[in-house]
Amino acid sequence: MPLTGLERWIEAQERFDGLRSTALAAGGARFCDLAYANAWGGPNDEVRAILRAAAESSGELDLQYTPYGGAVTSRRHAAQALARRTGLPFKHDHVVLTPGAMSALSLSVRAFREGGNVVIPTPTWLDHPLYVAMHRHEPRLVPLRDDFALDLEALAAAIDEETHAVILTCPGNPTGHLFGEDELRALAEVLCSAPRAANAPPPLLVSDECHRDYVPADRSFLSPARFYDRTAVIYSYGKRFLVQGQRLGYVAVSPRHPEAAALVAALRRLARAGGFGTPTALMQLALPDLEALAPAVEGVLARKERTRAALVEAGLETRGDATMFLYVRCADDWAATTALAKRGVLVLPAAIFHHHGWLRITASARDDMLERGIEHLVAVLREEVA
Ligand SMILES: Cc1ncc(COP(=O)(O)O)c(C=O)c1O
Repeated sequence: MPLTGLERWIEAQERFDGLRSTALAAGGARFCDLAYANAWGGPNDEVRAILRAAAESSGELDLQYTPYGGAVTSRRHAAQALARRTGLPFKHDHVVLTPGAMSALSLSVRAFREGGNVVIPTPTWLDHPLYVAMHRHEPRLVPLRDDFALDLEALAAAIDEETHAVILTCPGNPTGHLFGEDELRALAEVLCSAPRAANAPPPLLVSDECHRDYVPADRSFLSPARFYDRTAVIYSYGKRFLVQGQRLGYVAVSPRHPEAAALVAALRRLARAGGFGTPTALMQLALPDLEALAPAVEGVLARKERTRAALVEAGLETRGDATMFLYVRCADDWAATTALAKRGVLVLPAAIFHHHGWLRITASARDDMLERGIEHLVAVLREEVA
């Protein structure tokens, strides 16, 4: 059955899914999964204890329906943490809890009238354009610069009177680029001076901050919400605690957004109308304790740096400052991904991220997977140039 125009945005994903069985069959017990952020070692004991305590909670309605947008107490904890992080006065009524960042993103691009376009600096997380197309807007992909910083001129040229929003992955995924203050201020200026139809508001900035916890301690993460009032922040607790199957995230509308209350009300209605629902009651119960727990990112980041050192020593060009991922330059990303799958190693080709000529690998994999996987990666990329 036709997917009403969405095929184009799913094709690369489906082609990659086919390679997963190749890699599993070829790798057997020595399969190396360096593709998605799945943590093979699972979450740590503290996270497991919080989930257990939530499941054992004995309030009468603890595991029953919660309001669309989420329970007030859980939203309050999320808002307070975001307020501390950004310095902006986020309150519970700026936050809509969702089953993961995916539904937060999808809801956010559903909030506009049909038609128009959404501008997306690219490479970007795989399904951003898919959600835009799904809600009948044009995904307008604008390449980042070669150093993966924003191409402000190209963005200004792409934004027109029909632009509802810009979606920025902050820090960049797959690139690991950390957007700095000058860059974010300049983006805010581009958005404020964007051409508008009569009485139409400036575009919304959807800041996808799923990876902000993985910014190394010697760098600082800045949310674009600090520089542009019409920002909606997207977040994933699944990513922060490596419990991605548990589906907990949010969209939080900046308290400085002039129509914040109306936008949050619309998002809550859409959560109901779209059947997105809310995160499970169990994850909402766990949220206050999860918010109080610092994510244990050091292990992943140390593994990433060891992997980076091995890749650099092998002469490979590698990026990835501010996420758990490394982005490795290659000649043909599909050819390299296929060759690696045949060796039992799964990596993500840049095509998944609407880009080409790079591979993304994740440091959430086990040490032994990374060590073996890197040997194969180096061998395959050397064969490429031979
Ligand atoms: C940038 C980005 N946005 C959104 C998501 C989806 O997050 P969730 O699993 O919370 O839906 C991911 C997951 O990999 C991501 O990397």
